[in-house]
Amino acid sequence: MCQFLVLFMGLLLLAAHGGAEYSQDDKLNILEELESLYVEDDDHEVIDSANISWDERSANVSVNVDSFGASGDGISDDTEAFVKAWNTACSTSNSVFLVPPGRIYLVNATSFKGPCADKLVIQIDGTVVAPGEPSNWDPKLPRIWLDFSKLKGVIFQGNGVIDGSGSKWWASSCKRNKTNALQALTIDSSIAVVVKGLTIQNSQQMNFVISRCDSVRISQVLVSSPGDSPNTDGIHITESTNVILQDSKIGTGDDCVSIVNASSNITMKRIYCGPGHGISIGSLGKDNSTAVVSKVVLDTAFLRETTNGLRIKTWQGGSGYVRAVRFDNVQMLDVANPVIIDQFYCDSPTECKNQTSAVKISQIMYRNITGTTTSEKAMKFACSDTVPCSNIVLSNVNLERNDGTVETYCNSAEGFGFGIVHPSADCLNSQDKDCTLSDLTISTRTPEIEKDHIAHTEL
Ligand SMILES: *[C@@H]1O[C@H](CO)[C@@H](O)[C@H](O)[C@H]1NC(C)=O
Ligand SMILES: *[C@@H]1O[C@H](CO)[C@@H](O)[C@H](O)[C@H]1NC(C)=O
Ligand SMILES: *[C@@H]1O[C@H](CO)[C@@H](O)[C@H](O)[C@H]1NC(C)=O
Ligand SMILES: *[C@@H]1O[C@H](CO)[C@@H](O)[C@H](O)[C@H]1NC(C)=O
Ligand SMILES: *[C@@H]1O[C@H](CO)[C@@H](O)[C@H](O)[C@H]1NC(C)=O
Ligand SMILES: *[C@@H]1O[C@H](CO)[C@@H](O)[C@H](O)[C@H]1NC(C)=O
Ligand SMILES: *[C@@H]1O[C@H](CO)[C@@H](O)[C@H](O)[C@H]1NC(C)=O
Ligand SMILES: *[C@@H]1O[C@H](CO)[C@@H](O)[C@H](O)[C@H]1NC(C)=O
Ligand SMILES: *[C@@H]1O[C@H](CO)[C@@H](O)[C@H](O)[C@H]1NC(C)=O
Repeated sequence: MCQFLVLFMGLLLLAAHGGAEYSQDDKLNILEELESLYVEDDDHEVIDSANISWDERSANVSVNVDSFGASGDGISDDTEAFVKAWNTACSTSNSVFLVPPGRIYLVNATSFKGPCADKLVIQIDGTVVAPGEPSNWDPKLPRIWLDFSKLKGVIFQGNGVIDGSGSKWWASSCKRNKTNALQALTIDSSIAVVVKGLTIQNSQQMNFVISRCDSVRISQVLVSSPGDSPNTDGIHITESTNVILQDSKIGTGDDCVSIVNASSNITMKRIYCGPGHGISIGSLGKDNSTAVVSKVVLDTAFLRETTNGLRIKTWQGGSGYVRAVRFDNVQMLDVANPVIIDQFYCDSPTECKNQTSAVKISQIMYRNITGTTTSEKAMKFACSDTVPCSNIVLSNVNLERNDGTVETYCNSAEGFGFGIVHPSADCLNSQDKDCTLSDLTISTRTPEIEKDHIAHTEL
């Protein structure tokens, strides 16, 4: 019955509900903006999108770490050979910094700095391992193991493994400072970077960090650390723009992907996550800091047995915003907290007091999200009392639990939905409960949505 009304009387109803929180135009504008968020074509050449106008075939000068005295026996210290090979490769155009296959190279914490000559390929086919003893770690490099910085137009590739030998770090994790997490592989302050095919595993703490970069494409990367290893984020993106992460499998002891401050236009496609803490934006706003994250799209993901699904987490007292985020086509299997916004995030031994300031969260869309949850509150929108979440859009969400009881929790969250929304999200306090979202009007502006044939149900 509702749909007939929608079809024929949408505009009339809109007029009748002129005071509603979300007017027809509001909704259309929100939907249009969310729809327009970038997702790239599958056919695009990998290299184009990171703005590298050449490919690895033109790198023809091999700089093999073995030629600089690396032993590759997994026991001898190969740090010096790596540094010398890097210095040569970095200063030579068309070079390939080569870690050959079939051997294991033990390398200390090292900073591989650019800028380098044009057209550098970093080809990792062998295994690079970190020293396993935390007490011998160089105190001058507390945050990095393999740190690449100030590069422009480089390709990292190969079938090799980067192994942080983290087990002793995990065992002593309570003593460590989380704000200074050690990062196994870091790419920092770089432009136009492609990373494909590498395996990053057993990191001391964070596995792979992209920081202060612009134009990055990561594909076919495998990240693997045990599900109980502490603070081992899979891929951490900070202060970076125009990043594509695709066709990658991440299993770890913390967030599979975490996207934090000053990051924008981040696309994730075809991601497998599990075990882990899910795909996160945040945490943001710790210690009253300002954080901004915008234009994030996740399209096609499978999350299995993770402790969260799609999560946005912010601390009380922060400022800034998270805006324009779209989660599409996500399947969950036995995930706790499949859909969660947590503005009371508190990863600290002492209680975090509620404050009046918070990171503002708005324009967040969840579309075609299905599967099973292990927690009753399959959707949780726990937003700041003083800075409510707004424009949360749900479309075709269906989350089930074994015993059939599922619900949505809201605190200070506003939004609307269409299509199936299960568990129903009445608690998003949109005043629009009268089917004012009209097929007719929508079809003229966002044809993609029309295909779904909007049935404005439940919400
Ligand atoms: C991409 O290439 C164009 C044209 O060569 C150049 O103007 C632009 O600065 C490049 N962008 C990046 C991020 O390297
Ligand atoms: C490598 O290729 C470049 C062109 O891409 C060419 O100018 C250069 O001579 C080649 N170098 C070697 C060592 O073959
Ligand atoms: C690597 O670390 C070990 C242990 O701290 C140290 O003995 C060695 O000198 C370091 N190697 C280099 C090249 O700095
Ligand atoms: C942790 O790191 C922060 C930032 O560098 C520093 O302010 C703090 O004192 C450190 N805490 C401990 C316990 O080392
Ligand atoms: C977003 O990032 C992708 C990948 O780097 C890029 O191709 C696209 O142009 C960016 N979109 C905007 C609006 O900047
Ligand atoms: C957030 O990013 C901005 C821009 O890069 C930076 O100036 C600021 O210090 C960052 N804030 C935090 C808390 O890291
Ligand atoms: C954050 O701001 C609140 C309110 O002004 C203040 O009470 C608190 O001490 C601040 N916290 C930090 C870590 O600066
Ligand atoms: C919904 O998402 C699932 C899982 O990612 C995908 O297989 C399916 O094709 C999507 N359905 C639609 C209508 O896009
Ligand atoms: C903070 O506010 C939320 C929402 O009103 C409430 O559920 C929570 O108990 C409060 N936390 C503290 C520590 O006061």
